[in-house]
Amino acid sequence: MNKSAKLFKLAQQASLNAYAPYSQFAVGASLIADNGNYYIGCNVENVSYPCGSCAEQGAISAMIADGGKKIVEILILGYGKELITPCGACRQRILEFSDSQTLIHLADKEGIKKTFKINELLPYNFNTESLNND
Ligand code: THU
Repeated sequence: MNKSAKLFKLAQQASLNAYAPYSQFAVGASLIADNGNYYIGCNVENVSYPCGSCAEQGAISAMIADGGKKIVEILILGYGKELITPCGACRQRILEFSDSQTLIHLADKEGIKKTFKINELLPYNFNTESLNND
């Protein structure tokens, strides 16, 4: 199985475990890290709505906890009428662990529909250079 197919299958599996009783909107995320490992996440909602977390957040946390440092490719899968696109906060989270070549795949139930790089999804971003005040 190639990388894209594996990413898609893993995101599908994660989405089946999504805890989304309030939005009824399951999301799965999967990524390949610089250590060659795959990580997954799903959205986890809460009755106190702001406490919920996004699928991308879960996958990134799993990568960091396991010692991964960078996202090589990430796939986000949603089942809405429109193709899913990462929320603003998740774009910033992805940026933190990406480089200019990191691939961000957006998928629906059929497979990957679009692929972006982070500068396309979050242009003119606040990054580590932005903190430099010399
Ligand atoms: N959601 C994600 O998990 N990732 C995104 O990029 C967009 C939104 C989740 C959050 C919430 O549980 C549900 O989708 C509806 O907003």
